[in-house]
Amino acid sequence: MRVTIAKRDEVAEGQRMMFAIDGKKLALFKVQGEYYCIADTCSHDDGPLADGKRDGYTIACPRHGAKFDLRDGRVLSFPAVRGIDAYPVEVVGDEITIDI
Ligand code: FES
Repeated sequence: MRVTIAKRDEVAEGQRMMFAIDGKKLALFKVQGEYYCIADTCSHDDGPLADGKRDGYTIACPRHGAKFDLRDGRVLSFPAVRGIDAYPVEVVGDEITIDI
């Protein structure tokens, strides 16, 4: 199901936006002109991820430091051992949409 989550001008380069769809917490990032959407729940201990430090395409969980790739949700470092969900983003005109 494709859902509109924001207008393009609502998320500036290097910024992030948190939101929820059907109770699922998600986070949208804009990096190098592209948008990436991930689950805003760490696979280690369910902490929120989106407030963590971002370095390029890597987001670090603010609780215990596990790192994930924004592009596909794969885990990059302990203590997490599983990736997180990542959702394909498509820009349609002025709208940012995800497939969820
Ligand atoms: S809750 Fe994210 S690393 Fe522990």
